[in-house]
Amino acid sequence: MSLPESAPCEFLPWDTEFFGCRIARVRGEVMTPEQGAEADDWCRSNGVRCLYFLSRADDPETVQTAEQHGFGLVDVRVTFERALGRAAGPAGREQVSAISVRHAQPGDLAGLEAIARTAHTATRFFNDRHFPRPVVENFYATWVASEVQGRAQAVLVAATPAGQAVGYLSCHLDPVLRRGSIGLVGVGEGVRGQGVGRSLVLRAVDWFGTQQAREVTVVTQGNNRAAQRLYQRCGFLSRDLQLWYHKWFPPPHEGAS
Ligand SMILES: CC(C)(COP(=O)(O)OP(=O)(O)OC[C@H]1O[C@@H](n2cnc3c(N)ncnc32)[C@H](O)[C@@H]1OP(=O)(O)O)[C@@H](O)C(=O)NCCC(=O)NCCS
Repeated sequence: MSLPESAPCEFLPWDTEFFGCRIARVRGEVMTPEQGAEADDWCRSNGVRCLYFLSRADDPETVQTAEQHGFGLVDVRVTFERALGRAAGPAGREQVSAISVRHAQPGDLAGLEAIARTAHTATRFFNDRHFPRPVVENFYATWVASEVQGRAQAVLVAATPAGQAVGYLSCHLDPVLRRGSIGLVGVGEGVRGQGVGRSLVLRAVDWFGTQQAREVTVVTQGNNRAAQRLYQRCGFLSRDLQLWYHKWFPPPHEGAS
C-alpha cells in the first residue's frame, strides 16, 4: 500500500524485516506539538513499534517537542565535508608500513564481516538497548557485505602482507552532482591507532578525485572521538549536526489489526 505524501511518517520495510518489528521514520527534521501528535496517531494506527526521528539540533521547539512526546536521544549525527583539491589536515599517526590498502576482493568478506560486528558500537543501534546486541552486530556485518557486493561503488581494504583484511572503507559517488560520500569505515581493534584509518581515508579521497568528485562527505557520531579526529586529520571540516531520536510504542494488543 502506498502512503499519501502528506503522511507524517514513512514506513521502513527493510528495517522492519531486519529487526523483526514494525519501524517507521518521521518525515522532515522539525516537529511542532501538532506534528508530534499526528506522528503518534499514525504510528498507533499502523502498529509501529519503533519510530526514528532525525532532528535539527538548532531548533529548540523541535527538541522540546521530541522530548515531551517520549522520543529518546540515541545519537548525535555529525557530518564532515572535504572539498577535493584541499591539502590534508595536520599529519596524524604514521601508518604501519606492513599494511597496504587495495580494493576489496570476494575472499575478504568473512574478515570484513568479523570486524564490522564489533566496530560500530558508538552507533544509535548499539546505544538503543531495545535492539538486541547480536542482531545489531549482524546488521553491520550485513551492511558491509552489501557494500562489497555492489551497493558501494568501491570498497577499500587495509590488508596485512599475508592478505588478511584488517580494515575497510566504502565509497559512494553521485556522478551527476560529482559528490562523494564515505559509507562504512572500520579498523580491527588490534591495529587501531597506527594510521590504518588515515591511509584508508586518504586513499578514498584520491579515489574520489579520480572519479572527478568535487567534494566528499562523511557522517559519524558525536561520541566518536577517534573517528572525528581521523577525519579532521585528513582535512575534513564539520558541516552539520543533527540529533537521532527513537520512540518506542507498546506492542499492539493481540488481535488488534
Ligand atoms: C575510527 C577508526 C576507523 C580509526 O582508525 P585507526 O586506524 O585507529 O585511525 P588512525 O590510527 O589513523 O588514528 C586516527 C585517530 O583515531 C584516534 N585513535 C585511534 N586509535 C586510538 C586508540 N586506540 N586510542 C585512542 N585514540 C585512538 C586517534 O585520536 C587518532 O587521532 P590523532 O592522530 O589525533 O591521535 C577506528 O577507531 C575504528 O574502526 N573505530 C570503530 C568504527 C568507527 O568508529 N568507524 C567510524 C564511524 S563513521
